[in-house]
Parts: sequence; C-alpha cells; structure tokens
Amino acid sequence: MAYFCRKHSNVFVIAIASLAVVSVAVLTKNSINGFSWFHFFSSQWGWTGITNLGTTSSSSVFMIDQGKRKTLMNGGKVSKEKYALMRGGNRSDAKLERVEAGLAMARALIREAAEDNNCTSSLHDDLDYIPRGFLYRNACAFHRSYLLMEKLFKIFVYEEGEPPLFHYGTCKDIYSMEGVFLSLMETNTKFRTSNPDEAHVYFLPFSVVMIIEHLFHPIIRDKAVLERTVSDYVRIISHKYLYWNRSLGADHFMLSCHDWGPRATWYVRQLYYNSIRVLCNANTSEYFNPKKDASFPEINLKTGEITGLTGGLPPSNRTVLAFFAGKMHGKLRPALLHHWMGKDKDVQVYETLPQGISYHETMKKSKYCICPSGHEVASPRIAEAIYAECVPVLISQHYILPFSDVLNWDSFTIQVPVTEIPNLKNILEGIPEDQYLRMQERVKQVQRHFVVNNPPRRYDVFHMIIHSIWLRRLNVRFPG
Ligand SMILES: *[C@@H]1O[C@H](CO)[C@@H](O)[C@H](O)[C@H]1NC(C)=O
Ligand SMILES: *[C@@H]1O[C@H](CO)[C@@H](O)[C@H](O)[C@H]1NC(C)=O
Ligand SMILES: *[C@@H]1O[C@H](CO)[C@@H](O)[C@H](O)[C@H]1NC(C)=O
Ligand SMILES: *[C@@H]1O[C@H](CO)[C@@H](O)[C@H](O)[C@H]1NC(C)=O
Ligand SMILES: *[C@@H]1O[C@H](CO)[C@@H](O)[C@H](O)[C@H]1NC(C)=O
Repeated sequence: MAYFCRKHSNVFVIAIASLAVVSVAVLTKNSINGFSWFHFFSSQWGWTGITNLGTTSSSSVFMIDQGKRKTLMNGGKVSKEKYALMRGGNRSDAKLERVEAGLAMARALIREAAEDNNCTSSLHDDLDYIPRGFLYRNACAFHRSYLLMEKLFKIFVYEEGEPPLFHYGTCKDIYSMEGVFLSLMETNTKFRTSNPDEAHVYFLPFSVVMIIEHLFHPIIRDKAVLERTVSDYVRIISHKYLYWNRSLGADHFMLSCHDWGPRATWYVRQLYYNSIRVLCNANTSEYFNPKKDASFPEINLKTGEITGLTGGLPPSNRTVLAFFAGKMHGKLRPALLHHWMGKDKDVQVYETLPQGISYHETMKKSKYCICPSGHEVASPRIAEAIYAECVPVLISQHYILPFSDVLNWDSFTIQVPVTEIPNLKNILEGIPEDQYLRMQERVKQVQRHFVVNNPPRRYDVFHMIIHSIWLRRLNVRFPG
C-alpha cells in the first residue's frame, strides 16, 4: 500500500531495443526560428547568491567562478555577430521575459525576507508548518522562498525516451531516491507543466540506475553505455527543442543517486559544467559544484515500504552513547573500525552485527549514530539516524550535505574530522546534556524534510529536492 513505483509492463525491454527507440526518435529540426543567447551566472550558492544580487553589481558577480567553469563558458560562447544572427525572432523572447520577470520578483521578496529577517508576510499563508529556529540557516528566507516556489515554480519534463531507462526507476534499496523522484515527477501536477514556454527548468528524465542495470554488462564492463545513452538524449532534445541551446543547458537538470551519477554527466560538457546536477554523490573533489549543483539524501528503502520508518526512544532512555555497524568500505572507515571495534561498551562499533542485535533498534536507543562516508561520500545512515531520532555524527571529506543551503547542519549534527576519530568518545562525552537535548529536538524537527510520502506532502523530501532546484534556478539569470 505504501509502495509506489509504477510497474512497467515493458520493464523487461532489453537494452538495445530501448536505445533504438531513443535514437530513432526524431531528429527533425524544430521550426521555431528565433532563439536568444544569454549569459548566466551562478554566484555564491543558496541564499548568498540571491541576497547578494542587491549589493554586488552584476558585472562583478558575473563569472565570479574559478577557472574551469569560466573556460567552459567562454568555450561555449558565440561571437557577437552570430548572436545577432541568431536573434531571428522575438516570440519566445517575450515568453522568456515573462518567466524571468516572475523570478526577479521572487528574488526580491526572498532577499527582503533574508535581509530583514522578516517573516511577517508569510505567516498567515501557512497553516501546516512554519520553519523556525536554529535548524535553518535563515528560516524566514526559506519560508518565503518555499511559498514562492509553491506558487510559481514550473518544471517541464521531456517526454522523449521510454521506460525502463527513462521516466522510471526502482524505488527500493540504496538508490531508491532516484526512482522515487522520477516516479513522483511523472504523476506530479503541482510543479510539472506540459507547456515548455512557461517552465523555469527542464528535466532530463533518465535513470542512471536503470541504464546501468539494463545496459551495463558485468563482464564486458563497457562504461560507454552511459555516455552513449546520455549524449544521445541531450542531442535529441537539443535538436528538437530550442530550450537547451538557449541556455546552454543552464536551466536544465538531471538527477541521480547512483555512485556513477556524476560520471553520467562527464560526456556532455554543457551538462557537466552548466546544468543543475542533483546528486547523492556530492563530492566536491569530483567537481560537484554547490553553486549550481544540488545534493540530495541517499535513503535506503530496503523493501520500498515508506511508512513506519521513523521514531525512537526518548533521550533519557537512550542507553548507548554511540553506534555504528557497517562494512570496511572506502578510506575513512578502516580508522573507525580499527580504533573502536570491540574496544568500548559505550562506543559500539561493528563490522558485522552479532546475532540478536538489531540495527534499527540499536539506532533508536543510541544517543549518537556514527555516519562515516563509505565507497562514496553520501551515506544512507544519515537519513536512518534522523529517522531514529539519533543525533548523526558525520565523518566525511569533500561532502556537500543535502539541502545545506537551507539546513544548518551544525545545529543538529556533530561533525568529526577524520583525524579526531581516536578522540570520538571524549568529544561526544564532552557535549553538555542541554546541548544534546537541543540537537536531538532538532533532529526530530528535521525529520519532516527527509521522509518520503506518496503522494508527496509539503516540506517532505520530494519538496525539499524541488526547492533545491528552485534555488539553483533563481541563481541563473538571463540578461534583460
Ligand atoms: C516582435 O518584434 C516586432 C518588431 O520589432 C514587434 O512589432 C512585435 O510586437 C514583437 N512581438 C513580440 C511578441 O514581442
Ligand atoms: C516585512 O515584510 C512585509 C511584506 O513584505 C512588509 O510589509 C513589512 O513592512 C516588512 N517589515 C519589516 C520590519 O521590514
Ligand atoms: C542547437 O545547437 C546544435 C549545435 O550547435 C545544433 O545542431 C542544433 O540544431 C541546435 N538546435 C536547434 C533547435 O536549433
Ligand atoms: C523509559 O524509561 C523509563 C524508566 O527508565 C520507563 O518507565 C519508560 O517506559 C521508558 N520509555 C520507553 C518509551 O521505553
Ligand atoms: C571524493 O573524490 C575524490 C576524488 O575523486 C576521491 O579521491 C575520494 O575518495 C572521494 N570520496 C569518497 C568518500 O568517495
């Protein structure tokens, strides 16, 4: 009942057939004759980007970014002459102007809420939930932005491509959030629009998980299948529609929870450098760029069931100081297991759980749950800890945390540098009880932003992902 991925009768469709569908699909030239060139910038990520617009002149914010991105933008730039030629008509310009005017108004209102810490205008609009307190970087700005998103934001999902590689994904296991998002987007009526001219962003609905599952041969191990599928897709939509060329991909987004999500974007330069990439594997050492890309949580829906996952004991009944159970994956975990496995009754660290000890039950009775990166930066333990109302202890490097432009992660988690692993117990014991209680209370408060609902509910994980995309889009500007 609480499972919700649609079943596709053609899930068994084999790779080649499916690819053929995509490749055969239209390469006919679109007859729209005018398209406009634009510059865009993405200044500091999140609120800073929006709030800076007023105080920094746009020329100094423009292309503020480091080398790589600048190079690409110049590389993709057309000459003035060509630009003049390209501006054949003005039909779509007028529509684009309307879209941009809406965004400009939203930026101004969010800036006002952020600068004055002014929540007054949004108070009476919201009966459900009012974001407040230290959980948020700026609760007023978030609230205003969220309400504006609900009112304005429109997403166009390209219809090209067939399931199971497109418009579909599995809603189980560690990469479930990819399938959950694709499925919810298919049936969404609130944000999805069928009119691309009124859209703010354009979604490329491929599933990296499904491409790997159906096209990647475990023995041949030809990673180029990912390249071919994604490049073909971008080629098709950029020939058929004017939107990709108009923004060089900057108002387009892809989403993947797979470890190879970033890799899927390597092969199309504009997708890699310009588009909004919504990724679980948000590793800045692999050029995850928080100014334009968004991090979303890895949530392991083991059976696809989405109810009954939250809850834990009250703080006074939490008898275990800290808990971790997991394999020796990646670079950070060996230090954790080496220092703590079997060493201390308060810091319970296991590579394999002994018989009779339940993973989820232990989380529910622990004060702190240790969440180290494994093979990749993201860990499903973060959401599991939040579900169990256990304060997460984050051990990671180069990881941009989910929704970190909105959430003040320092207010409800402990972040321990890798070098401090030997001091873990001292660090945790040194945290005063009242501070712990405040953090634990905020973990309960933040839960609503991590739960999966079908249909989605306001402020849940689906809406938080949409909000991250909305924020990134606000930071992209077409010049007037
Ligand atoms: C397009 O441009 C023409 C000539 O410059 C102008 O008369 C017309 O109103 C414009 N149309 C729109 C929709 O902006
Ligand atoms: C707060 O925002 C509202 C609506 O935008 C505005 O009318 C009001 O004057 C603002 N208050 C302050 C103190 O800035
Ligand atoms: C977009 O640009 C590509 C490459 O420059 C071109 O082949 C394609 O026809 C353009 N698309 C449209 C819709 O004009
Ligand atoms: C918490 O512990 C108290 C006493 O130690 C006990 O009475 C109570 O039932 C426990 N609560 C839960 C939810 O286990
Ligand atoms: C992040 O990326 C860097 C560079 O590719 C890599 O060395 C590192 O292992 C990655 N981090 C994790 C936890 O996978």
